[in-house]
Amino acid sequence: MTLVGTGALLRAAEDGRYGVGAFNAVLLEQLEAVLAGAARADAAVVVQVSENAVAYRGALRPLAAAAAAAVAATGTPASLHLDHATRPELVREAVESGFTSVMYDGARLPWAENVERTRALTGWCHERGVWVEAELGEVGGKDGAHAPGVRTDPEEAARFVERTGVDALAVAVGSSHAMTERRAELDLALVARLREAVPVPLVLHGSSGVPDDTLAAAVAAGMRKINLSTHLNVVFTGAVRDVLAREPALVDPRRYLAPARAAMADEVARVLGVLGAAGGA
Ligand code: G3H
Ligand code: ZN
Repeated sequence: MTLVGTGALLRAAEDGRYGVGAFNAVLLEQLEAVLAGAARADAAVVVQVSENAVAYRGALRPLAAAAAAAVAATGTPASLHLDHATRPELVREAVESGFTSVMYDGARLPWAENVERTRALTGWCHERGVWVEAELGEVGGKDGAHAPGVRTDPEEAARFVERTGVDALAVAVGSSHAMTERRAELDLALVARLREAVPVPLVLHGSSGVPDDTLAAAVAAGMRKINLSTHLNVVFTGAVRDVLAREPALVDPRRYLAPARAAMADEVARVLGVLGAAGGA
C-alpha cells in the first residue's frame, strides 16, 4: 500500500525544491498511465479526480475505488486528490471514500463567502486528517471563460490563508485552463512574491498551456504542485486517433487504449523530469 498524503509529498518537494506532478484521470487507463509514468520516473505523484470527472461518470465512488485500488497496487508513493470541488457534499463524500486531500474551489465566490466556506470545510477536513487546497484569483479557462489576465494579489493571498487555515493555495499567475497549445506566459516575478508572502505551498493550475522551460522556471520560483490534465488528454487522444486512422476496421478498445495509455505514461514520466521530481520517490 503506497497511498500517502499530499501534504507529505509537498513537504518533501519544498525541502528538495522540485515540483510535484498532479495529474488528472477520468478513465482507468489514465489512472494506470499516471502510476506507470510515476514508477518509471521513480517519482511520487498526486492522482487527481475532478468534480467534472465525477459528473462524467455519474458518481464518485466507482472511480474512487478504482483509483484507491490502482494506487495500492503500485510501488510508487501516490496521493489521491479531489480536484476543483465546488460542492461541499462532494468533498465530504471524497473524504469518506479515502481521498487523502481535496481542493475546495470557491474562487468564483465573493471574497467573504469564499473565506467563510473554505474555513468551515477546512476545519471539517482537518479533523479527519485530510489536507486542503483552495483557490484565490480564479484561474481562467473553464466554461470557455478564458481569463489569462487574472492575477492573485500576494497580500490578499496571505490574509486568505491565515483566515481559512488551508494547506496549499492555487494562485492565478498567467496560466489558463484547458489550453491545447503550450504558449502561456507566466508572471514569474509574481510567483516569487507570492512565495515570499504565502506560508503554504503554491499550486499552479492550467499547466497544460505552459511550455517546459517556463514550468521549470515556475518551480524554481516557488511553485510546488503542478496540475496537468489537458496536455495529457492531447497525448492520450492523439494516440487513439493515430491507431484508428491506421486501422479503421479495428473494434477492440484495448487495441487503441493500450497505445494511448503507453503514450500518456511516457509523457507523465517526461514531465516529472521537467519538474525535477524524477528519482525522488
Ligand atoms: O486542476 C487541474 C488543472 O488545473 C489542469 O489544467 O487541463 O489546463 O492542464 P489543464
Ligand atoms: Zn485547475
